[in-house]
Amino acid sequence: MKAWPYPRIFAHRGGGTLAPENTLAAFRLGQSLGYAAHEFDVKLSRDGVAILLHDATLERTTNGTGRAADLDWEALRALDAGSWHSEEFRGEPLASFEEVAHLLRSEGTLANVEIKPTPGVERETGDRVARLAQELWAGARVPPLLSSFSFEALMAAKAAAPGLPRAWLASRLEEADWERMAALEAVSVHTNHAKLDPANVERLHAKGYRVLAYTVNDGDVAERLFAAGVDGLFTDNLRGFAVRFPGAIREPGRTA
Ligand code: G3P
Ligand code: MG
Repeated sequence: MKAWPYPRIFAHRGGGTLAPENTLAAFRLGQSLGYAAHEFDVKLSRDGVAILLHDATLERTTNGTGRAADLDWEALRALDAGSWHSEEFRGEPLASFEEVAHLLRSEGTLANVEIKPTPGVERETGDRVARLAQELWAGARVPPLLSSFSFEALMAAKAAAPGLPRAWLASRLEEADWERMAALEAVSVHTNHAKLDPANVERLHAKGYRVLAYTVNDGDVAERLFAAGVDGLFTDNLRGFAVRFPGAIREPGRTA
């Protein structure tokens, strides 16, 4: 297997549950706790700006309504993406992909960019996000790891930026996923830890794929996954995991 330059634990959605997900405040918090790598979700605004947002719609994590893909960045950036979380983060805006890339690179922290297209614009999103990632991380020692549940988006990313590593996201691994991973030339598969069959870890490793699990918030579960050979995981429990796994949030994982 190729060397794995990412730490074994990624801060999920920037700062887990400590800060409003996918905002600059979340990344700053993760960095302040010592996290060296962050996972986050990227999609496109109406005018093609790559922005961080998990859902297709704005209701859950902002004071806006409707689909983010129906608004331009100028309107999106005026929304409050912090109040839903807590009073402390009132007024925290949505972040653009570009802003986040600058913040991560300025602190030397690493990225797993989850391409999360609004349904219907998979190809365009994969293409745009991959091109931007290539530009924004030009000259970086460790490239951003691109992942997606959308095969179409990730194939478009492969065509646009073939040199960036790709990860296939599959909630539960099925036979068809092996073909998809081969077509994507994926370096890793990211899967729901609750649906991960430990027998698959060995099979995936034998084919040269790293295995990462989301979203793991219980330290004992994390220990068991690592013991089963899982290479990495995503957590919302930033404080707990920083105390229990101080090396795994900072240092690169296995090199062989
Ligand atoms: O990328 C891992 C994980 O974030 C996938 O699920 O819904 O949290 O984006 P979700
Ligand atoms: Mg995600």
